[in-house]
Amino acid sequence: MSDFLELCKQRQSCRSFSEQPVEHDKLVQCVEAGRLTHSACNAQPWSFVAVESQDVVSQIAECGRQLNQNAWLGTAKAFIIILEEHAVLSPVISCFLDSQYYAKGDLGAASAYVCLEAAAQGLGSCIIGIYDRKKICELLNIPEEKQFGAVIALGYPSNDTVRPKKRKAFEDIVRFV
Ligand SMILES: Cc1cc2nc3c(=O)[nH]c(=O)nc-3n(C[C@H](O)[C@H](O)[C@H](O)COP(=O)(O)O)c2cc1C
Repeated sequence: MSDFLELCKQRQSCRSFSEQPVEHDKLVQCVEAGRLTHSACNAQPWSFVAVESQDVVSQIAECGRQLNQNAWLGTAKAFIIILEEHAVLSPVISCFLDSQYYAKGDLGAASAYVCLEAAAQGLGSCIIGIYDRKKICELLNIPEEKQFGAVIALGYPSNDTVRPKKRKAFEDIVRFV
């Protein structure tokens, strides 16, 4: 099996992080993986905010504890927030489509690269889908109208067990023609 497929199997959403801090260099590597992600017309419709100051990390975690969800976020040691930026598509394509048409897909890909690089570095990650966007904007001095691509919690997993993946069966999701 390829190392990459092995990495895909090992990456899992981590919802309990240990006390071990995340090294600055590892955060840099995760952002670098995000930066290298492919995107439509190479428009790169993203920017990244890496949060490592522990007082800010705690405040972001608080913003993610919404609707009684994600109580475990209190154990996160860092966050990478991916912001949606203006996509500059080639004129041929942008005359048919809204300029941000591909951005969501591109941001999803960038989130995956960040999480896979985190796994390669021995870090746990979990994308969170529920958070107080306005408060995060306030905390990080992000313009309020900015769309988020992803909020990713990071840290060292408090245990190393790799759970079996819950996925649709291979034969149910593919057709070879
Ligand atoms: C956009 C997005 C939002 C998510 N939001 C949450 C969340 O708020 N809380 C959580 O515990 N997991 C969240 N997850 C993690 C998913 O539940 C997880 O990826 C899925 O169950 C597959 O499990 P795995 O990542 O361990 O393979 C989110 C994942 C994505 C991609």
